[in-house]
Amino acid sequence: MDDEVRDFYNKYGIREWNRLEESTYNRINFLLHMHFIENYLHKGVKILDAGCGAGRYSVEFAKKGCKLSLFDISDEQLKIAKEKIEEAKVSDNIDGIYQGDIRDLSQFKNEEFDIVVCYGAPLSYVIKNRDKAMLEFNRVLSKNGILFISVNNKWGILKMLLGNKHPDFFNKPEYWYIDNVIKTGDLPKHEKVNQPARHFFEASELNNLILENGFDGIALGGSPCFSCGNSQSIEELGKDKKALNTILQIEIETYMKPTMVDNGEFLLARAIKNSH
Ligand SMILES: C[S@@+](CC[C@H](N)C(=O)[O-])C[C@H]1O[C@@H](n2cnc3c(N)ncnc32)[C@H](O)[C@@H]1O
Repeated sequence: MDDEVRDFYNKYGIREWNRLEESTYNRINFLLHMHFIENYLHKGVKILDAGCGAGRYSVEFAKKGCKLSLFDISDEQLKIAKEKIEEAKVSDNIDGIYQGDIRDLSQFKNEEFDIVVCYGAPLSYVIKNRDKAMLEFNRVLSKNGILFISVNNKWGILKMLLGNKHPDFFNKPEYWYIDNVIKTGDLPKHEKVNQPARHFFEASELNNLILENGFDGIALGGSPCFSCGNSQSIEELGKDKKALNTILQIEIETYMKPTMVDNGEFLLARAIKNSH
């Protein structure tokens, strides 16, 4: 198990639950992740939420009648998820809550789930043996089961940093490992970044990782795509409901266009377990 990631998310605590509703930009991010999966959320569908964090998506899926198994490396996140499940009164739709690393899903049987969700970039924290996690997702999925992933996008993250107008970032490429990130996608642990090491993907790379591990029928998206790097404008303009609806409409129209998917802070992927 990755102790550093576990300790980081244990300390991060309730901020993880709050993350997706603390700004208009983040609410758009949440809405797009939901839009990407909503046609698959039928009553009784068995879902593994792998890297569930504080359960933001699990609670939403359970409200729709899906049957959830929650899984995360952080005991503190799982504790918060349990409280949120009780608050939302969806305990009847929770099959279990488990702690572990997504590279080892031995707590689950082969073909146990209709859907595996790995949203909010758990895979970006997996620096070594990423294939192991993908093969485990494949193993626990039923025949024709569907995988939903979101990871951090290399180009989207840089676009986001441009929008943040940090005065000491783009003028210090060596210090911030910008070259390394551009070339490899890897951001090692950094003295000024309060996060463990992460990997930022680009669309073609994630596409290959999925294909090589027993999936096909891949669809990709960028989240948020049109809004990424513009969180301040979105916050101001979004106070006008009509303007916000227009921005949302443009997001929905564009977020899955092949020319746009590498523009989002998160890169979404949906894929079907192949039958051979
Ligand atoms: C940003 S949070 C996302 C939580 C939730 N999926 C969401 O989108 O709201 C990332 C989560 O991934 C978990 N995580 C990171 N690496 C993991 C691993 N190797 N195995 C299991 N969980 C992991 C963290 O503990 C954290 O709760």
